[in-house]
Amino acid sequence: MVSTRRAATPICASDSLPEHGSFTFRLLYRGEPREAILVRHRGRAYGYLNQCVHMPKALDCEHCNVFDETGEFIRCSMHGFTYEPASGLCQSEICAGKSLTQLKIDERDGLIYLVDKRASIPD
Ligand code: FES
Repeated sequence: MVSTRRAATPICASDSLPEHGSFTFRLLYRGEPREAILVRHRGRAYGYLNQCVHMPKALDCEHCNVFDETGEFIRCSMHGFTYEPASGLCQSEICAGKSLTQLKIDERDGLIYLVDKRASIPD
């Protein structure tokens, strides 16, 4: 019997993603080439497509620091819209109810893996 379960694909070492840090990588999302971003908040890693809901800009398009000064919210470097790190929910009234597109990832044994059926990392 052939398994249809997609194997977890390593993205990076856990050490590459410090607290309040980010790590960008390319993937295919629903067959389209996209950029994704990992962030770490309160020790936990989260993955998102690297695109703000305000405009089609990467969260780190202006500078690589993607957290606000409190360290509690992801902040788009273009116009400063903020997002809740665990859910990706936008905190701005202009984008009320919209969220970053979250990717399923898994972290174990010192590595962060992509485990999202919608996405793959090209060879
Ligand atoms: S493009 Fe991200 S806040 Fe405007």
